[in-house]
Order: sequence, then structure tokens, then C-alpha cells
Amino acid sequence: MKAGMIALGALLAVGQVWAEQVRIETEDTVILLEATKDRDVGWLYWGSKENVPSSLGWQGPLLSAFGGWAERDPALRVTHADGVLTTELVLEKTERMALDANRERTVLTLRDKLYPMQVAVTFTAYKKENVITQSVTLTHQEPGDITVHAMASSAPSFPEGDWWLTSFQNRFLDRWPNEMHLFEERLMPGTKRIANYRSTRSAYFENPSMLLSKGPAEEANGEVYGMALAWTGNWQLDFAMRTGRELEVKAGMAELGADYRLPPNKPYVSPEAILAYSAEGKGRISRNLHDYARNYVLVGGLKPNPILLNSWEGVYFTFDEKKIKEMIKDAAEMGLELFVLDDGWFGNGENARDGANAGLGDWQVNAKKLPCGIQGLADYAKAQGIRFGLWIEPEMVNPKSELAKKHPDWVVKSGARDIPQGRNQWLLDLTNPAVQDFVVQTFDDIMKSAPGISYIKWDANRTVANVGSTYLPKDRQANFWYDYARGLYSAYARIREKYPDLEIQVCASGGGRVDYGALAYHNEFWTSDNTSAIRRIYIQWGTSHFYPAKAMAAHFSRSAVGNPLNVPFPASFRLHVALSGRFGFELQPSHLTPQERKVAEAGIKAAKEYIRDIVQFGDLYRLHSPYLRDGYAALSYVTKDKTQALVFAYSLDTAYDKEPLALRLAGLDPNRSYKVEEVLTPDGRKPLPCSGQSHTGKALMRDGLTLPITKLYDSCLLRLRAEP
Ligand code: GLA
Repeated sequence: MKAGMIALGALLAVGQVWAEQVRIETEDTVILLEATKDRDVGWLYWGSKENVPSSLGWQGPLLSAFGGWAERDPALRVTHADGVLTTELVLEKTERMALDANRERTVLTLRDKLYPMQVAVTFTAYKKENVITQSVTLTHQEPGDITVHAMASSAPSFPEGDWWLTSFQNRFLDRWPNEMHLFEERLMPGTKRIANYRSTRSAYFENPSMLLSKGPAEEANGEVYGMALAWTGNWQLDFAMRTGRELEVKAGMAELGADYRLPPNKPYVSPEAILAYSAEGKGRISRNLHDYARNYVLVGGLKPNPILLNSWEGVYFTFDEKKIKEMIKDAAEMGLELFVLDDGWFGNGENARDGANAGLGDWQVNAKKLPCGIQGLADYAKAQGIRFGLWIEPEMVNPKSELAKKHPDWVVKSGARDIPQGRNQWLLDLTNPAVQDFVVQTFDDIMKSAPGISYIKWDANRTVANVGSTYLPKDRQANFWYDYARGLYSAYARIREKYPDLEIQVCASGGGRVDYGALAYHNEFWTSDNTSAIRRIYIQWGTSHFYPAKAMAAHFSRSAVGNPLNVPFPASFRLHVALSGRFGFELQPSHLTPQERKVAEAGIKAAKEYIRDIVQFGDLYRLHSPYLRDGYAALSYVTKDKTQALVFAYSLDTAYDKEPLALRLAGLDPNRSYKVEEVLTPDGRKPLPCSGQSHTGKALMRDGLTLPITKLYDSCLLRLRAEP
């Protein structure tokens, strides 16, 4: 197809009249819409290209507006400049454009029948990845502001079925967060909502992603729909089921308190909704999304991420130059590639950042703790042969700081009300361009003061409370939610323009910004502050549904959270769990026992030699879910050419006697023979019987392997190589 906008559409018979059909298609999937000029646009079908039914029926409007019979919770609701509450949308035009050989864009422009208001619904199909994104842009030329009460990114309708929802939410256990825990439930008539109303931590308590399936979603079988919102702000996912079990989904920015005053000719743009469909279970959805993330979203998505040591759990706020240099030296000796100095390096005098109560906003190095300065540390790291990274939290300010005194008007606050503190800090008002400038300038100043920095961890440790802005006019206070997220993106974009190759990790008290909107400006994310190996098995399992291992920071630590014995888990167990994500360390190396250090160093060596490449660029197959709670979990990564694979298997904390794990593998070439080798075997255990054996891919996938790792916290890592 030639590039540029072309007319499109096939004709289909709908009742008596002939209607136009629009196809949005990837290699295996298709969305079919009924789209006839001057009529409402509707969903006809979303699914596999192979299974398009011979007769198609209207499932629901592409974007239901509040007007007409108004029988459903509308995807779009505005109050027009003259106070009229209703909107009636019809199709004005459809355009299609090939962005390149792999991506095709389709824009359906709807207009109100009466008012000068346009709603452009944009679909972008990523053919190889089998992913389709959808977003909505609203503009108008009415004589004054309109108020947008609701505008979803995507609102597909599904035919009658036994619909099940899989959602990913933070589950607190032992007072520790467990982001992206997996929840499965059968939807019943009525409306269910999953939402984030905390703005800055868009993904902490609930992740903006979900799966829909008929019956519980399976890994390798059955139809599954997936959707994620690319939005670092407030959002909602609504599931309205009719009594006939038809399902209406509405996904987009949260409507609560967010009535947006929109002046004429200014586009109001929804976040992108990322849509994926699989006829072969949710595993395929994950692999497709991982490809999409690597190829199109993440910064440096095709470049391996470094193996690093982060200082936080090792020393928290209690360090000086000597201690940090020792850590850097140890990290280099262990074979690590990067050292990241976390919180605590800035603020001076009474505002020194010696705890979470002071210093945020005063981004000058603490001269007492670090007389050599940040560049001094970066130079030292370089001399040891490793890179240097630094933690920042530039959207925040402690009341105890120079910045808070200088710019009280920059703080998010609601008129004269108290400004609640979260972790002793206030939030800066990024709706204000001066604050955006400050954030960009702060970043730039830090980089200029220490050009040796090659990695940044950007944190955001509080949410919005008592919303309000000194900058926004009084009739636009509710614009805060949208303008904050756009302000954040604008700051991110300016920084990225200047520092395209800098590695940046997104963090918000752990996995609080694991969303596709933030990821577009980052190389990776901090998955959770919970680094306990047992908890991470569940957290990383959930996270892997939508986000790729190469971005999912997983650090070997000494955390014993969730271990009734209250001692760190076996070193090999911790190592295996960390190696299955973006591998790193979170501890004080000098606290490692000689045995732990030996295990860690062997892991680092193997990660560099082959594990990193397979985990970061291979295809993920989740093989045995920890959520089955039968005492085991297992997953694997298979290289794209299917010549190599890694299998991770864990024995979890169940107290009864278990049979060995019978594990069927997946994703291999059935016709090739693979040599199985156990690597990084736990100390004190003999290699597993399967180590050294050769089997065909077919046998490994059909009959599987028997893994006698029955002992509590035993684990194994198998390396498979196709034989010539
Ligand atoms: C948050 C992050 C941690 C660490 C601390 C520092 O909690 O998630 O990893 O950076 O802040 O204060």
C-alpha cells in the first residue's frame, strides 16, 4: 500500500442499507468497525483474522456520547459552551496512513451533528507485534469553553459470554507492598471499576492494565483480550455487564473531580489505550506486548540493560564518601557494571538529607558527606571500571528546604487548607510551566555538575492530597489532573531531547509508575520496594503479563520479608529470582557472607555471558503459576531463533510434602534436540538428574522434565541449547 492518506472501506449489508466497514489489522488480529459517513460508528468485531464470523452485528458504539437515549455510561460527555448537555456524534471522514512497513494509522473523525466539535479516534496497528493502540482527540470551535466531564481512550463492546477479568493490584502482606498481584474474577451484571485517583503514583495500588477472557484466562489456550493505559495520572477501567452478559468496557482518564474546561481550538488528547488480542492464551499477549515495548516504547529497548548495585537497602541514608567508595570498589570487584547512589546525597546544613524529613528541593551535593562531590564519585567509579548513577526526586519538596521557603506558590495546595504531608514531603505543581522549567533545570544542573553520571533513578514518593493549584485560574482547578500529567510528560520530553542516551529508571515508591505512559521516557522501572525473593516471584509474575523482563528491575538483596524463619532466603534462590528480571543488587556488599559473594559472582559472570541476553530479548513462557499455590513456580525464556532457553523453577513456602515438579516446557522447536544443563546449582545439592540429558523439543513440551526440587526454597536454573 502506498504511503499517505487514502480512502478505504468495504461495503457490508446491515439490514436493508449498505454500510461501510473499516478494518484495523495486524498480522493475526483485526478490529472491524461499521463506519458510514454521517452515521454513528460502531464495533463489529475484535479478534482473530481467521475467525471473523460470516455475519457481523453491531456490538456497540465506537465512542458512546451522552445524548440521544443515553442508555449507557457514556465514553464521552461534555457540556457545550451554551450549557447544552448532550452530544450526538456521526462520522465525518476516515483516513488511513502507512507510517512504515510495520505500522498503519487509521483516523476516524467524528463530529457533533449540531455543534462545531470534532472527535478524532486514532488507531495505530503494529502488525508484527499484533498490538493496536487507540486514542481520542477532542477539539471544538464553540464561542467559549466547553467542559469535558468524560472522555475515554477506548470503549469496546463484547458479545454475550462468561466474561472473566484479570486485574493487577498491590496486595499488602506483612506491611510490605506487592505490586501487580494477580486477581481473577467472574464479572456479573452491573458495573465494576478499577481506578487510580492518586495521580502521581499511577500504578502503585492498581496497575492500568487488564485481561478479559471467557472463563479464567489460560496461559496457552483460549481467547484473551488485553488492554493497558499509557497514563501517568488518574485513570479508570470500567466493566459494565448487562443482564444478558454482554460487556461494555470503558478505559481512560478518571472522571472523578476532573471536569476539564477546554477553550476553543485547543486539542484535548486522551492517553493511548494499548489493545492486544490472542487466540492462544494470555502468554501470547504478554510476548506481543514485550515485543511492542522493546521495539516501540522503551528508551533503549533493543540495548541490554546494565547489571547494577543500588545503594538503598545497603546503607539507606547512613553513608559518607568512604563507605560509598568501598561499595563502588566491591561492586567493581564483583563484576558489576554500574553503581547507583540512591537517596541521601544532597541538602546541606539543617536541610541535609539524612532522613526523609529534609532536603528535597535542594539539589546540591551534601559537602559534609561527600566532599569529593558527585563527579568525584563518578570519577572514582570510572577508575574502578564501572559506571555511576544517581537517584533524584525532582517533583517533590520537603517543607524543610530552601526551595519550600523560596517558592511556596509552587506547592500543590487547596486554597487556604492545610497541605497534607506524605513521607514528610509536598508535591510540586507541574501544571505550572515555571515548575516544569525548574524540574528540567534541576536535572540539567545535576548532569552538568557531574557529566560522569550515566544513569538516573527518578523517584516520586507521594500522591496528591487536597488537590489545587495556585497557578491554575479559579475556574480551571479541575484541569489539574490532566495538566499535571501533561506537564510531567513535557518535562520528561525536554529532558529526553537533551539526554537521549542516558539510562533512566522510573520509580515511584517501587512500582508506582509502571505504566506505558511513563515507560516511553525510561529504560526500565523499579518493580517494587519489596525485594524479598519469595514475594518477588509473585510480583514479577504479575508484572510480566504486561511489561518485559528487560525493564523489570529485580535485585538480589538480603530481605527476609515473608520468610517465617526470618533469615535471608538461600543465596541461590535469591539469585535465580533476580536473574529472571533485569538483574541487579540491592545490599551492602561488605555484608555478604563469603558463600553469598561466591554465588553472586557466579551469577554475574553467567548473566554477562548468556543469561542477560536470553532474559532481556527472549520470549517469555510462564510455565507454572505461583498463584496455583501448590508449592511451585516456573517460567522460561526462549531466544527468538529457538536455539537457546532458560528455565527458572522455584520451590515455594508450602509446608507439606511435595512430589517433584513435573514441568512441561513451551516455545521450543519440536524438531530439534536440546541439551539440558543445570547451571548455578544451589550449594549443597547435586545437579538435577535431567542435567546433561538431551531431548527433542517435542518431548520437552509434551512429556516435560521431572524436577526434584521439593525442599523449601530449593530452585533451579536450566540452560537449554539446541544441538547442531
Ligand atoms: C523509594 C524508592 C526506594 C528508594 C527510596 C529512597 O521508596 O522506591 O527504592 O529509592 O525511595 O528514599
